[in-house]
Amino acid sequence: MKLICGNSNSALAKAIAAHMRVPLAQCKVRRFADEEVFVEIQENVRGDDVYVIQSTSYPANDNLMELLVLIDALRRSSSGRITAVIPYFGYARQDRKSSPRTPITAKLVANMITQAGADRVLTMDLHAGQIQGFFDIPTDNLYALPEIGNDIQKQKFRDNIMAVSPDVGGVVRARALAKRLSTGLAIVDKRRDKPGSSEVMNIIGDVSDKSCLLVDDIIDSGGTICNAATALLEKGAAEVFAYISHGVLSGKAVDRINSSDLTSLVITDSICATEAVTKSSKIRTISVAPMFSKAITRIANGESVSILFE
Ligand code: R5P
Repeated sequence: MKLICGNSNSALAKAIAAHMRVPLAQCKVRRFADEEVFVEIQENVRGDDVYVIQSTSYPANDNLMELLVLIDALRRSSSGRITAVIPYFGYARQDRKSSPRTPITAKLVANMITQAGADRVLTMDLHAGQIQGFFDIPTDNLYALPEIGNDIQKQKFRDNIMAVSPDVGGVVRARALAKRLSTGLAIVDKRRDKPGSSEVMNIIGDVSDKSCLLVDDIIDSGGTICNAATALLEKGAAEVFAYISHGVLSGKAVDRINSSDLTSLVITDSICATEAVTKSSKIRTISVAPMFSKAITRIANGESVSILFE
């Protein structure tokens, strides 16, 4: 077995490798003067079971291209089986035609990864579970929820906690958290006028005097979560925390969170933390490296992956 990574999240790749006690394969991923991606695998991979760890996070196009070129280099080096390990699968929000004459880019990216030569995909908390079907190769979608649930149980929250979905689309995830923690469930009815802006409309459920735990797959501009926190406090919530799988945190998102009504935000390390994230006193990161190392080991041994979530 070989583990290899591009430049998107080498911290997570190193953590996975450390958990598995397998060294990362020697590989150079660099740029020509005109920013073309160039990859050189510096050890024999012939016949190996190779896991390429690369999130397609910011800069999404560069990181996607690195993933594709890495897969191509492995295929041309006669690797036995290539698994694209994509802790954060970018472009997932473009999973349907949201208006006439728009692309379904999540499908296009799935085609590109398959065409490059991946034999299977391992990812986490896809924005929509059905994106698994965009790949015509086996695709395992892991869930951060057990790690999130474990972290919540270690915190000293008041007894009066409530799981909250920040929008109607996230109800299944919030319900699963509510079930895991045996708490109630509330829903923020959010309407978005245009991409990138969000507006909270209504809270479904009684949140008065509750410690609210917002749970979502992605935090990008931070608008959804910060507006939801304000709306929950206006409806009488005692405090608001957020647990989000993928900390995309574009632009001024960290500043927005630092000055928001949120008590704290917990994200996973599916995306490499920026300096602003590591310096923020409101943001904490939990690692999904143990979960990925278990899943990779199980795939390599031909064992069940779903058993990790039973
Ligand atoms: C949307 O359906 C997603 O689940 C997130 O709620 C959304 O991507 C968050 O975006 P932002 O942080 O920019 O409001």
